[in-house]
Amino acid sequence: MPSPHQSDRRAPLGLVALVAAAVGACGDAPERASDIAAPELHQAEGDRDATPPVARGREIFRHDTFGDEQFWTDTLRLHEVIASAVDPLTALAVGLKVDAEALPPGILDEVDLTDPATTVALLSLDAVLGVRGTVSADGELEAVGITCALCHSTVDNSVAPGIGRRLDGWPNRDLDVGAIVALSPALPDEVKAVFTSWGPGRYDAYFNQDGINDPVLIPPAYGLRDVARETYTGEGPVSYWNAYVAVTQMHAQGSFRDPRLGIDIRQEPDLVKEKLLPLRLYQFSLQAPPPPAGSFDLAAAERGRAVFAGKGRCAQCHVPPTFTDAPALHAPEETGMDPVLASRGHTGGYRTTPLRGAWQHPPYFHDGSAATFGDVVDHYDGVLALGLSPAEKADLVEYLKSL
Ligand code: HEC
Ligand code: HEC
Repeated sequence: MPSPHQSDRRAPLGLVALVAAAVGACGDAPERASDIAAPELHQAEGDRDATPPVARGREIFRHDTFGDEQFWTDTLRLHEVIASAVDPLTALAVGLKVDAEALPPGILDEVDLTDPATTVALLSLDAVLGVRGTVSADGELEAVGITCALCHSTVDNSVAPGIGRRLDGWPNRDLDVGAIVALSPALPDEVKAVFTSWGPGRYDAYFNQDGINDPVLIPPAYGLRDVARETYTGEGPVSYWNAYVAVTQMHAQGSFRDPRLGIDIRQEPDLVKEKLLPLRLYQFSLQAPPPPAGSFDLAAAERGRAVFAGKGRCAQCHVPPTFTDAPALHAPEETGMDPVLASRGHTGGYRTTPLRGAWQHPPYFHDGSAATFGDVVDHYDGVLALGLSPAEKADLVEYLKSL
């Protein structure tokens, strides 16, 4: 049955080609050979030692919804909103990203970026990072679900802003998750008000558990291989957190139980559990991106290294090579942090953030309270009464840029 909103519209040529390519390229098979085989510069290290479980983990990270359509479609009915009101320009404006490698060459010059049907066509190509659409043969969007890549990947903008090659593990700090969820026709206004208060790059992974509205910055999922505890509050190892997010936040079909948080969700068959190992291996294969050439002053960074280890006392907690002392945790007042988030998990403290690829993802601290490295250094200079000179501060900033 053709969807009513499309019945009176004649699809432009480009769109027809796009849909045809989608049907031809994907059919029912979610896996594209290029996903497994394509060498990717930004992940050269990870890919070099890629074993089948790692490649499978990448597939899961990018494309697996774990059956969470039961929430995004059946409960939130976001498929209806997307098909009727979310054209590609709107999608890009709320921070969604398009995988240029999933598109037929030249297609973007032909399609109408102000037509929601183009969004549906992009979904049928699996070209929108972290959003999976099920599209019928006549172009109707029947279901949508989300994947890990929604929040934890972005693109290199090589084709246009928001359109390019995937960068897995990079936090999508443009993504306005709250604004997207608030599009749902199924939510009461007071809940929508909470979601729309978050803004780009932020998400609250406990709001639907404890009702407290205190969003945090989406962190990178790269550079975690040797880090003992995951999340800002060090809730647990990576698979613990992956299971928590999949089941309680993405609303995957799976089971998650943590008596400390009073959560006991059981759903059979469990579409999450068996994927946690390859998913973990893939995350651990993601290296932090090195700083761009020429982005910091080498000599100043060398002097800054000495400040970091000495007068600045940074290395007491940010212990090289991981730049964290996890599994140790720190009370909020030790580093002058806002205490709310620490009081919501079960640990009561903050994990020293590993400074992997820190240049890549300002602002800093879990709540984004430091806009720049300069703000970070000023914060510690005050809280720890370090007495750093302007030159020492500047050198420390150059060192942070080099990590
Ligand atoms: C809706 C956005 C969203 C989605 C989807 C999402 N995450 Fe996250 N993720 C977050 C946020 C926000 C945090 C920070 C939570 C905290 O520390 O309190 C986080 C934390 C993490 C961390 C910890 C990073 C660190 O520094 O310790 C990892 C690893 C991670 N997520 C992996 C995943 C995986 C794997 C999936 C898919 C199963 C996933 N995430 C799905 C938003 C998301
Ligand atoms: C007592 C332990 C401790 C000391 C000393 C310390 N840090 Fe931290 N650092 C932390 C903790 C804990 C966090 C996480 C805070 C949060 O996100 O709320 C953090 C977060 C950061 C971040 C934010 C990273 C991100 O991605 O958000 C930066 C940057 C940083 N510290 C740099 C420094 C520098 C520079 C120094 C020295 C001047 C320093 N730290 C000293 C424990 C410490």
